[in-house]
Amino acid sequence: MKVVVVGSGVAGLLAAVKASRQHQVTLITKDVLGESNTHYAQGGIAAVTATDDSIAEHVADTIYAGAGLCWEPAVQALCEQGPHSLNELIRFGVDFDRAEAAAAAEHGTEYALGLEAAHSHARILHVGGDATGAGISNALVTTLRRSNVTVLEHTLVTDLILENHKVAGVSVFSSDGLQDIPAEVVILASGGAGQLYRHTTNPAVTTGDGVAIALRAGAVLADLEFYQFHPTALAVPGSFLISEAVRGEGAVLINNRGERFMQRVHPMAELAPRDVVARAIQQEMLAQGGEPVMLDATGLGAEFLKQRFPGISAACRTYGLNLGKQPIPVTPAAHYWMGGVATDVYGRSSIPGLFAVGEVACNGSHGANRLASNSLLESLVFADRATDVLDQPWPNEFEFARFHDQPPMRELEIDLGYDSNSPVVDRVELQTIMWDNVGLAREDLDLRQARNNFKAWRPQKRSLRLFTDFEDANLLDLAKAVTSAALARTESRGAHYRLDFPETNPNYARPITVRKA
Ligand code: SIN
Repeated sequence: MKVVVVGSGVAGLLAAVKASRQHQVTLITKDVLGESNTHYAQGGIAAVTATDDSIAEHVADTIYAGAGLCWEPAVQALCEQGPHSLNELIRFGVDFDRAEAAAAAEHGTEYALGLEAAHSHARILHVGGDATGAGISNALVTTLRRSNVTVLEHTLVTDLILENHKVAGVSVFSSDGLQDIPAEVVILASGGAGQLYRHTTNPAVTTGDGVAIALRAGAVLADLEFYQFHPTALAVPGSFLISEAVRGEGAVLINNRGERFMQRVHPMAELAPRDVVARAIQQEMLAQGGEPVMLDATGLGAEFLKQRFPGISAACRTYGLNLGKQPIPVTPAAHYWMGGVATDVYGRSSIPGLFAVGEVACNGSHGANRLASNSLLESLVFADRATDVLDQPWPNEFEFARFHDQPPMRELEIDLGYDSNSPVVDRVELQTIMWDNVGLAREDLDLRQARNNFKAWRPQKRSLRLFTDFEDANLLDLAKAVTSAALARTESRGAHYRLDFPETNPNYARPITVRKA
């Protein structure tokens, strides 16, 4: 069977390697192999390896962070299959950091385990201190290069090709121009859309291309209103991520009066769920005229910081900051999209032949707010599960079990049309509107204004498009979709906080789905 994999983060690399054992696989990536969110992941990968931890506790922590919107079968699959996925990575050559003898004996595992927000146990494995993503990505790229997968770099997938409502291939754009690549199966693994926002921890490639092409092809999307903002990006241009693991080791957040403020916000203080910490920081920043808050890691000792967080320490130094000697300025930034292409627990979407795995997908395992370090795990587990069923017949009448358990509270159909006389979309302006109006805290008026702004733009004419023009067109479609979903959810839950509806409505613990009109 001909299989096209789109994207080369952990989900795409693993899916391509595994699928190539039985199928003819082409992996398409718009930059170089491995350039993705995965590559920059610091904190690590959550999975149960310690004897004093349990799958049931990992499931419970994931569901608590997910604020009532996780779909339990997906969470079970994620946490149960986690240890198997780790072992597979180890076989591919990933060298996770080891624990010192005393800690290894205490927890019954040879691996060094980090703690991050909302985890009841230290269970985060890491590589090279804070270079986990690069460690995993490099091992998988090496494995892929030895396989028989055909790799197309610097190639952008612009659209899905459907025949009789089934996947028949993809259209791509590269320096050779536009061409079609036929395939019976397409696995989207193209990551998130941090570039929707003015401030993001994500690299430049994260323009949500996979979600946008699925939307245009008619796929069902879900949970788009839930965008996770990481609480602690360095307050410098580029929003360099300061891993939650730094707080996990004991760093604290202070305001400009030198006071710790998280203790009065949540019993877990700096390790409360991410949405809680991010909003608390935003509040403190508002109260101090927009000035960033400070992350104080000095209590951990300069030597420990250099050895446990070599990448972060080095990045701070490039901005003239010494992590071991002074508090550093931090601010929230867009980090991870819980929403995406709606799938079942095998990554199957509503379009026969179209799979989605990793951040591009929404299978219900993260709910309204992803638990820290569950994303690399999700990519691995669901890429693996998808490749197990590639040649199984697509269910005749595809139905999402999730939507039986959690019938959607709204099924939106959104208009992607535009007036051909309108001005061409401006990416920086779009990102600014998303940050200001569809960011950490939203309300009706701002959301409507944002939607009107997006409707007043058009994408660049197809015949004139450059790579970035295709990306801008994708961002425009997604901005409309996210804003519509955020308007429709008239409550606050997880990462979606409505100033005009600050309470959680227990009747709304159900997804909102979006498809094109
Ligand atoms: C971090 O290192 O704080 C990011 C980890 C994650 O997003 O899961």
